[in-house]
Amino acid sequence: MAQQRSVHDHVLGGIYTVIKTKAPVTCAEYGDRYTLMGPLSYKSAPMEVEAIDWEKPTPLNEDGTPTTTSVANAALVGTLSSMRDRGVKFLYGRWLIEGGPKVLLFDTGSVWNRLDEWKTDLWNLAGIPTPANDTETNETVLLGYLVAWFLGEFSARERSRAIVAHLHEWQAGLAIPLCRKRHIDVTTVFTTHATLLGRYLCAGSVDFYNNLAYFDVDHEAGKRGIYHRYCIERSAAHCADVFTTVSHITAYEAEHLLKRKPDGVTPNGLNVTKFSAMHEFQNLHAVSKQKINDFIRGHFYGHYDFDLDNTLYFFTAGRYEYRNKGLDMYIESLARLNHRLQQSGTKQTVVAFIISPAATHSYTIEALKGQAVTKQLRDTVTEIQNRIGARLFERTARYNGEHGTEVPDPAELLSTEDKILLKRRVFALRRNSLPPVVTHNMADDANDPILNQVRRVQLFNRSSDRVKIIFHPEFLNANNPILGLDYEEFVRGCHLGVFPSYYEPWGYTPAECTVMGVPSITTNLSGFGGFMEDLLEDSQDYGIYIVDRRMKSVEDSVNQLTDQMLSFCQKTRRQRINQRNRTERLSDLLDWKRMGLEYAKARQLALRRAYPDAFEDDDFDFESGQVRLPRPLSAPASPRFTTGVVTPGEFATLTEEMQGLGTSDYMGAQQTWESLIRGKDEEE
Ligand code: UDP
Ligand code: G6P
Ligand code: GLC
Repeated sequence: MAQQRSVHDHVLGGIYTVIKTKAPVTCAEYGDRYTLMGPLSYKSAPMEVEAIDWEKPTPLNEDGTPTTTSVANAALVGTLSSMRDRGVKFLYGRWLIEGGPKVLLFDTGSVWNRLDEWKTDLWNLAGIPTPANDTETNETVLLGYLVAWFLGEFSARERSRAIVAHLHEWQAGLAIPLCRKRHIDVTTVFTTHATLLGRYLCAGSVDFYNNLAYFDVDHEAGKRGIYHRYCIERSAAHCADVFTTVSHITAYEAEHLLKRKPDGVTPNGLNVTKFSAMHEFQNLHAVSKQKINDFIRGHFYGHYDFDLDNTLYFFTAGRYEYRNKGLDMYIESLARLNHRLQQSGTKQTVVAFIISPAATHSYTIEALKGQAVTKQLRDTVTEIQNRIGARLFERTARYNGEHGTEVPDPAELLSTEDKILLKRRVFALRRNSLPPVVTHNMADDANDPILNQVRRVQLFNRSSDRVKIIFHPEFLNANNPILGLDYEEFVRGCHLGVFPSYYEPWGYTPAECTVMGVPSITTNLSGFGGFMEDLLEDSQDYGIYIVDRRMKSVEDSVNQLTDQMLSFCQKTRRQRINQRNRTERLSDLLDWKRMGLEYAKARQLALRRAYPDAFEDDDFDFESGQVRLPRPLSAPASPRFTTGVVTPGEFATLTEEMQGLGTSDYMGAQQTWESLIRGKDEEE
């Protein structure tokens, strides 16, 4: 029997993108003093981490005194040996990614026997209950206690330098209350990328944003069986020296649901690839689009009656959170777009992809067959092409007694056998059913929310439909037998990303589109959408379309999204190319070289709070609320930021003095940088 593919197998969301892409700038600032900690997976670690022999002695100064590195190393070796001697297993090494940061990964299984003891301790120490059968919480407890154990021992040995521990999400945050209760000499930063309760509440059918201030949080958490998790998240937020979130909208949410106003916003960045030729990304678009075209010919075999040169590729992608990711709205708006395009009489086609992992039993025979029959046709055409070439060459090379008759009649070149072969191949392309919406056998087809919505709006890939739908319920991978592209390649080949989220603390997917020069649609309920709205007056010109889901009714938002997609369809190729150029120009705004400054500020503030006496010199300007940072991250000297005061956190509040203010400052920090970006427009 086919094995059911679990949704959780390989689904890594945006949090993974944060940790991985941020490593290079943090390494640039801290070098080898930066270590990432987390749980050890024996399955993936060997491929991703190069182990370091941590017991090997480090070199001393010429006079035999210890170097700074060897002092730190002595603390590390002492701590790791002590933990190892008490049964803790771990992997210490270098993560094989850009920047090559050090990682310390703990095998939580090796301390499983201590779980009950630690749970009791957690209850006595912090009053946090932990039920027996919640695996995720158990892992959280084990990791939290291991990290606190490490920090406790390490800080006792490393007395010369301060230690900043920056923890993300409730699953890693438990070490924070432990550090505080045990008075461990470290300073802590906690960043939430969502709140547990927020995600749960939004997935239901509440009017979340209008009721944020009024939820009875304990009651709501209890009702959903997540009270203990909620307690962990809340205690991490409260015990941290500095608390941040990834966007203003989530800061507002955290203030109400976690009951601590964040100290500021640490927005997410990306590492922007700069090509030496400015328009290389446009070429990449064309190359990747060809690959998607190949897939489409196969998927629509027998019904491939539209012009790929007049076809646009839209897509949405992300973890399968039907309502939170706005999948409901996407499909509804696509149905309306289909209707509008049909009415206009256009021959243009839109293929709308949904890339969202669900439980499946692998690919459908039909999806595999489509690729196979078109591949056979292509192979046959290539063979025939070669034979025709050989015949043509032979005929024209050979002198047959009369000059001028060497060039044959083209009809003669295709032999009868070739014709029969071609007919057979073309015959194999016939089918009675419509091209399928979904590429995989779903574990629960009848109850799948996406498929049910597609059925409701009847987008069945009929010939008359101008909007076709393809649901690929698995993240993309170049090794997949169908749609074999990496996610990045796929995005580059598409024309428009559509992410009409209802709950989206940041939303990497539209941000990734932007740095690849692909226009996208997002909402003013997503952190990224809010961030861009604050920066740009006419964001639409830059290929950042923002649906208003805050002030409009659902019906009006659906119509707005439909209008945006329709107006995109009405662009000429030239206009699309220009728009992509403009979108790509926004990349620098999202680069970690800038976004990382907020992290540096958060660490500064944490150090300042924990060790105020060490900060008598004045590198913190309370007048302007600016931390005067050295330029650690080699931010590009861009003309846009020559004022010297502008960092992404101008909208954030990572300063002491903002603490007294209300939350309104999160929501409408209007500042227009558009003129700065527009400065380049004439170059187009
Ligand atoms: N993603 C991926 N493969 C895919 C589709 C998406 O790796 O086929 C990644 C994408 O690059 C992005 C992440 O999934 O970094 C989704 O992050 P986002 O912040 O949009 O949403 P989250 O899952 O964190 O809610
Ligand atoms: C890029 C390529 C062009 C190509 C265009 C297609 O800009 O450099 O050669 O014509 O993409 O754009 P489209 O929006 O029609 O896919
Ligand atoms: C969370 C949020 C997402 C955000 C990501 C990284 O998973 O759902 O919106 O982009 O974290 O911060």
